[in-house]
Order: sequence, then C-alpha cells, then structure tokens
Amino acid sequence: MSQERLYLYPIWLRFWHLVNAILCFILIVTGIILTINYLIFFIGNLFTFNGKQYQIEYRGLSSRLMKQARYYAFGIFTGENPPFPISKENKFNPLQRFSYVFIMYLFIPVVFITGFALLYPNTIPTIVLGTSGLHLTDLFHIISGFVISIFMVVHIYFCTIGKNPGANFKSIMNGYHEPL
Ligand code: HEM
Repeated sequence: MSQERLYLYPIWLRFWHLVNAILCFILIVTGIILTINYLIFFIGNLFTFNGKQYQIEYRGLSSRLMKQARYYAFGIFTGENPPFPISKENKFNPLQRFSYVFIMYLFIPVVFITGFALLYPNTIPTIVLGTSGLHLTDLFHIISGFVISIFMVVHIYFCTIGKNPGANFKSIMNGYHEPL
C-alpha cells in the first residue's frame, strides 16, 4: 500500500541545512589540512635552523617581554628604535617568540588533537577528573579556537609594524626582510 508523499522540508529549511552541512564539511576538511600543514611546520622546525627561533631563554624573560611591550605601547609612537633589532639569529622580538611558541606548540596542537577526538568520540574517556570527557574535550577545543582567532587578529596588527604597513606581508611572501 503506497502512502502519500509528505512535504517535511520547506525551502528555507533545506537551504539552511545545505549551508550548515557545507560549513561543517569545510570545518572538517580545513581541520585535516591544518593538521597536515602543522606537520610541515613541526618537521621543518625540528630539522632546520628555524627551530632555534622558537627556543625560549627563560633567564631575564619577563624583563625582555616588558621592554618589548613598553616599546609597542609608547616607544613606537615616539620614534624610538626597536629594543630588539631583527637579525638572522634572532628574527623574532621576545613577545613574538613567546606568543609564536604558545600558539604553535600548545594551542594549534590542542585544537587539532581535540578536533580529531571529537570526530571519533569513542576515543574519549567517558569521565575525566570527575567530569564528562566529551565536555572537557569540547571545552579545550573551543577555548583553543578562540585563542587562535584572537591571536590572528593581534598578529595581523603587529605584522603591519615594519618598514611600511605592507613590508612584513611582502616578506612572508618573498622571504626577504626589509630593514627599518
Ligand atoms: C591563526 C593563523 C596564523 C598563525 C598561527 C600564524 C603564525 C605565524 C608564525 C608562527 C609566524 C612566524 C613564522 C616563522 O618565521 O617561523 C608568522 C609570521 C607571519 N605571519 Fe602569520 N599566522 C597566522 C595567520 C596569518 C595571517 C592571516 C596573516 C596575514 C594576513 C599572517 C601574516 C604573517 C606575516 C606577515 C608574518 C611575518 C612577520 C612575522 O614573523 O611576524 N599570518 N605567522
């Protein structure tokens, strides 16, 4: 006995669902690409001199961070010279080095590891530290995503500080730094 067809999905709902599904798919694909891309960074830093730029010297760290922060807050607007001029051995100033290490060796790995865990939720322990492992994984994923997003906005602003606002963007494309 054939039943009458039921119209369950109005046009707006089908449109919303299509966009939603495409965006979720893009999130998964970009997550996988991010992970593969990260391996390029990780291996590159492991086997080349670039990795040295990511080693934090803890002695005197806070005073170097303060010096750079003071320069960004005041000195830069009064025409002072940068306290840590760029060289081949030290291409990052202390604040850059610190934030790049945290982003690249903490938050990016956390975002893709928790992302894969959420993609395969059966790999997540049910209870972690007395709370839901799934919720905890989700929380870490979201927090890392926020931190990376905020980093990106701040990062782009600081990248405009160079010989001219476009100079650092040119450098990351052609490889050559233009001295101030
Ligand atoms: C969340 C996304 C991003 C992350 C995690 C990130 C991270 C980094 C890192 C680690 C470096 C240093 C690479 C090295 O020399 O070893 C760098 C450099 C750079 N990035 Fe990004 N970046 C991101 C997005 C962007 C975007 C969207 C732009 C441009 C619109 C950009 C522009 C630059 C420029 C100009 C440099 C060279 C200047 C510098 O070292 O500060 N970045 N980025």
